[in-house]
Amino acid sequence: MIKKYTSGKPIETEAVVKEYKAKPIEELPLKNHTEGEHFIIEMELQKEDIVYGLGEAPRGINKRGWVYESFCSDDPFHTETKSSLYGAHNFIIIASEKPYGIFIDFPSKIRWDIGYSKESEVQITITNQNFDIYVIEGSTPAEIVKEFRGAIGESYIPPYWAFGYQQSRWSYPDKNAVDKVIEGYKEAEIPLECVYLDIDYMDSYKDFTVDEAKFPDFKEYVAEKKAEGIHLIPIIDAGVKKAEGYEIYEEGKEKGYFCKKSDGSEFEGGVWPGICGFPDFMRKEVREWFGSKYKLLTEAGIDGFWNDMNEPAIFYSTEGLEKALEKAVSLKGENLDLSKFFGLKDTFLGLSNSPEDYASIYHTINGEQVCHNLVHNIYGANMTKSAGEYFEKEYGKEKILMFSRASYIGAHRTSGIWFGDNHSWWSHILLNLKMLPSANMCGFLYCGADLGGFNENASRDLVLRFLALGVFTPLMRNHSALGTREQECYNFENTKDFKDIIEVRYRLIPYLYETFKKASKNNEMMFRPLSFDYPHDKIARECETQLMLGEECMICPVYEQNVNGRTVYLPEDMTYVKLSGKEITTKKMKKGINYIEVALNEVPLFIKSDKQIPIYAPAMRTTQIDTTTKEMIG
Ligand code: GLC
Repeated sequence: MIKKYTSGKPIETEAVVKEYKAKPIEELPLKNHTEGEHFIIEMELQKEDIVYGLGEAPRGINKRGWVYESFCSDDPFHTETKSSLYGAHNFIIIASEKPYGIFIDFPSKIRWDIGYSKESEVQITITNQNFDIYVIEGSTPAEIVKEFRGAIGESYIPPYWAFGYQQSRWSYPDKNAVDKVIEGYKEAEIPLECVYLDIDYMDSYKDFTVDEAKFPDFKEYVAEKKAEGIHLIPIIDAGVKKAEGYEIYEEGKEKGYFCKKSDGSEFEGGVWPGICGFPDFMRKEVREWFGSKYKLLTEAGIDGFWNDMNEPAIFYSTEGLEKALEKAVSLKGENLDLSKFFGLKDTFLGLSNSPEDYASIYHTINGEQVCHNLVHNIYGANMTKSAGEYFEKEYGKEKILMFSRASYIGAHRTSGIWFGDNHSWWSHILLNLKMLPSANMCGFLYCGADLGGFNENASRDLVLRFLALGVFTPLMRNHSALGTREQECYNFENTKDFKDIIEVRYRLIPYLYETFKKASKNNEMMFRPLSFDYPHDKIARECETQLMLGEECMICPVYEQNVNGRTVYLPEDMTYVKLSGKEITTKKMKKGINYIEVALNEVPLFIKSDKQIPIYAPAMRTTQIDTTTKEMIG
């Protein structure tokens, strides 16, 4: 059961699709008070209660013991002391004896103190008085999720091929680089489905352009790759380069489609291409305009995109940079002591994504000027909706692959997300595992992390272990940053190990895709914490290194270096299945704590003792998976 409470005049986010009759906020059945502008909710926690939710956020599946912030942030250091990442997913479940969920539909900043200041209390601070709150009741957390997901609408389903293995890097700058990747995979006989085009495919980082010198006859090239079964997936950034003669910028400017400053002039901020205009995605006509530009690439045969830098990431604003440069000039020749030197350094470091710049941006909503801070968390979501809605209208459902970096609940209906710029750190295998059920609760089913890690150099064994988790994540993409070690599977020694892992993915794709679709249609989670399925099992309740997958399975990737296996907890008797290329070994195992051996070329999987799942012969492309012959395992 869902009840809606409204305070003030909330800004429409389109997160909820079902109609609910709103009650006044005074009737909210949760302890609350007002402090200045802020509306504060206090909820009691018992010692045993678990708090789930917040989607893409740092730390554990159980969110207790930290303070989080809903504020879409372009932050490439996903350390445990951070409070926000790229998404703002304002849904939590208090799994107490009488569990309930709460969704705060509010596109500005929210602070979630989940037992951080006071162990026995959740304190939610909503930073102004215009919002909707939905209180969701159900007898279990899974029931609450189902109810909530019913309210926010069915999750995006990508095309089938988007479950294939995808290779990315910042960047494969030209046709030769892309061909080299395809060739590398072909020679190593490792399946491959997509190759990503990061920012360098564009002409001077201009959205919806292709550098002719790097990709001559782009359309023919795309078709040629399609014929080989390879999809090229270009990136689209939120900022539109300010450049004379660049049609999209000029058109946007002429129509007044970019965000403004308080004096009505255009807000200008620097991103990859230098100074950019930022489309005002709060306006329907701007969304329609920007969305229709994807056509420039779909007409060339492109059928998948990733939207980036849409928090929005702003390296600097014209004003901010000018002030910083003036400061630097004024200090020239001076003897810089501690405060002067670090003051100067901080001025430059503080240029990016600065609160001052965000506060200076204005949107037009229903003809009124609205400060960016009030809608920050739906900016990226609205960019992605602009594309997703266009694709659905033009091509129908399940045709175009689309995922985004920034997101808000509601965007899950038209796109997926990836977990942004993680690191090649062992700890990030676990962090990314923990994000999966949390993202699923909030509707984001098509998701995944940069496998192998984005920032810094990856070791061979890390990439293999990361991939073994990725075998199960809907988005299975290896991506890494400029200047890092080449992370494509064929660039490591003994490529057979990589082949063994990725082949397992292809053998499981029909099962995974069905499981995914079922989760979308039934408003369920594809990945669940063990505590959802075994709420009275003490060890399962605390388990944050394994997940339930669909109705049949449990996954438990290895997440440490220099080990030959891991400890795993079985909440019931299960079959341990070890998968590696064509090899399958199975072993019945008893409920309890067990140690399992897992070699670098093996994927561990548990199947409930009364269940089985289908597995197919390995294939090099999703189109080549023979679904007429299967084997049941378990
Ligand atoms: C951002 C993205 C990353 C991409 C890079 C260059 O950091 O998160 O995935 O490779 O920009 O476009």
